[in-house]
Amino acid sequence: MRNESLTPAPVSDALLGFTPPTSPATSRHADRTLVDKYGRHVTYIRLSITDRCDFRCNYCMAEEMTFLPRAQVLTLEECLRVARTFVDLGVTKVRVTGGEPLVRQNVVWLLEQIAGLPGLKELVITTNGSQLDRFAPALRAAGVKRINVSLDTLRADRFRAITRVGDLSKVLRGLDAARAAGFQRVKLNTVMMRGSNDDELVDLVQFAVDRDIDISFIEEMPLGEIGHGRQSTYLGSEEALASLEQRFVLLPSTESSGGPARYWRIPGTATRVGFISPHSHNFCESCNRVRITARGDLYPCLGNNDAVPLLPLLRAHPTDDAPLRAAIVHGMGIKAKGHDFSRQMDAPQVVRFMSMTGG
Ligand code: 5AD
Ligand code: SF4
Repeated sequence: MRNESLTPAPVSDALLGFTPPTSPATSRHADRTLVDKYGRHVTYIRLSITDRCDFRCNYCMAEEMTFLPRAQVLTLEECLRVARTFVDLGVTKVRVTGGEPLVRQNVVWLLEQIAGLPGLKELVITTNGSQLDRFAPALRAAGVKRINVSLDTLRADRFRAITRVGDLSKVLRGLDAARAAGFQRVKLNTVMMRGSNDDELVDLVQFAVDRDIDISFIEEMPLGEIGHGRQSTYLGSEEALASLEQRFVLLPSTESSGGPARYWRIPGTATRVGFISPHSHNFCESCNRVRITARGDLYPCLGNNDAVPLLPLLRAHPTDDAPLRAAIVHGMGIKAKGHDFSRQMDAPQVVRFMSMTGG
């Protein structure tokens, strides 16, 4: 499946002639919060600023990827307008993602602008770390508070096999630079894969402990057709947790980021170990986020194909935000109750790659 063939479900084809929704159940709250029809408050957006990446992780991308033509990608000014409108509607946290966000030209300008939006409490970023040694101080200075770095293995040969092209030593240098730059928190994201990195989970936690950083393990999700089934490599959180408990004392933590991760603490260390378990612990009930792809499609649910295309509205109404606001509010109304990843591991129904939707 190639990116250019991905079109959002026809739910919102009424692009330019968009009419504001009338349903009182799905609207803007008086307290400036976006609320969906299940009563979930959306306070967090994940904004993908490019579908491109300098890696080709085998669980994320097909070997051959076709990326979007420039004209179909939001400009940085459009990204900022989307972020500003969401923040104006009560969103307090923005995560900038990709693809790999640091391959986008002038990303630091965008981050500075988003960080300065009145009402925003937290600007964070997810990166593959490949450019971090160069960017870490500038990101911190721009106002990025926390940073998530994807790291699935500590072995250079495996790293190359998983990312198809990546250089582990560069990412490790990037991590050092991030720690030195003084972010409030640096966290590793590790996708768990049987037969690939399942024997390294302890090493990865120890790596995090040694550096006073956090680590979250993620169950693989069926996003996009990657050329092989995912069922055989799927590794669930319970099994991973059990293997970590043979080596570490893990105390369940009541802390929550308001998100899908459940956390454990290792006494005597600064490290939190998180598990993001879309299969074994469905977290949809407390979902507080929506995603915007690089081409400006608002996806209310990661596990669902319904989307609201914002790009045509942005371009048809360059100075009037009302249609954009109405489309965002409409998006809340179509936020699905939840995903059903577990039944789809070898037959994904979500045709987007994570590099489209941004983590
Ligand atoms: N399932 C789970 N995690 C994924 N990521 C990318 N694709 C998938 C997938 N299919 C991870 C990346 C990154 C984070 C944003 O999402 O490794 O850490
Ligand atoms: Fe790039 Fe992240 Fe996808 Fe890997 S998982 S190919 S680093 S976007």
